Amino acid sequence: MRILFYDATAYDKESFNKEITNYPEVEVTYQEIDISSKTVSLAKGYDAICGFVNSDLSAPVIEALGEIGIKLILLRCAGFNNVDLEATKKCGITVLRVPGYSPEAVAEHAMTLALAVNRHVHKSYIKVRENNFSLVGLTGVNFYEKTAGIIGTGKIGAAMCRICRGFGMKVIAYDMYPNKDLDFVEYKTLEEVLRESDLLSLHCPLTEDTHHLINKDTIAMMKDNVVFVNTSRGALVKTEDLISGIRSKKFFGVGLDVYEEEGANVFENREDELLDSSITARLLSFPNVIVTSHQAFLTMEALAAISQITLQNAVDFEKGTVVEANKVE
Ligand code: NAI
Repeated sequence: MRILFYDATAYDKESFNKEITNYPEVEVTYQEIDISSKTVSLAKGYDAICGFVNSDLSAPVIEALGEIGIKLILLRCAGFNNVDLEATKKCGITVLRVPGYSPEAVAEHAMTLALAVNRHVHKSYIKVRENNFSLVGLTGVNFYEKTAGIIGTGKIGAAMCRICRGFGMKVIAYDMYPNKDLDFVEYKTLEEVLRESDLLSLHCPLTEDTHHLINKDTIAMMKDNVVFVNTSRGALVKTEDLISGIRSKKFFGVGLDVYEEEGANVFENREDELLDSSITARLLSFPNVIVTSHQAFLTMEALAAISQITLQNAVDFEKGTVVEANKVE
């Protein structure tokens, strides 16, 4: 099987090259550019393409993939909100993903953001480097005995629940399908979770139902001085409303690994550019906001698992033994 990798970075190449020796039937070509209607023709002559979180897999791109004979889209990630599934169905293209490569990697990053923004690590790091050892402005709050509210308790949300429990927090959650393994978690309505949490962390997928789940109305329900973290998908949050909430001092701190309009930024070095999106610039202007660039998944363990499962998905597709849970339909 010949696979064209789009948007391949140095760390992708490193982790896939390590793993590919175990898959002699698979041949991979790396392409740094991401897939779009302009670059889709590069896939001509391949059997499959491999994309990532922000790859443009909209209907026109998928139709073009169908026309050049691509039968398989391999996503080297869990989320698939960027794929037009109607179009893949119509074109007879199978989509396989990596649903649970390392939930702990993402959950640990969510807690990293929560702790960093709560204890102002981003500010103290800079201050101390400038010989400013003053503690003014660095007061945080204990998480111990506070309430953590987790929205979405699938694989990552469950890992976040366990981390919060380890901190001595009361853990409450909202999910339409409560996770029976989490016997220490109290399930509540979304509104109750929003109203009662001192730390709120989003771990549900982006769907039509969850688009802009966090907006001016749901922000108004939150406790004052809440610490809010999003490592799931940017469009779960209506960013304009989040910015208004930050301005009106609703939040003690906000940690974002994902945000609307991240597409042009993610994994790019734009240090010589003037940012054209005011959303990114405004988020970066707040002292109590930390933004990272969709890096929550980025651990050695997660990369190894992503490479292994993606290549196994390719082989299983050829053999007709695809793991049901890895199929996106
Ligand atoms: P999962 O499928 O195991 O769990 C998702 C949970 O959300 C399920 O329990 C589901 O019932 C629940 N859910 C669905 N709609 C909901 C709603 N309206 N309200 C509350 N809960 C709802 O998914 P997993 O692996 O835990 O991943 C969660 C999300 O994390 C992914 O969809 C993806 O967007 C994001 N992610 C982010 C990464 C990063 O690097 N920042 C890396 C991997 C995933």
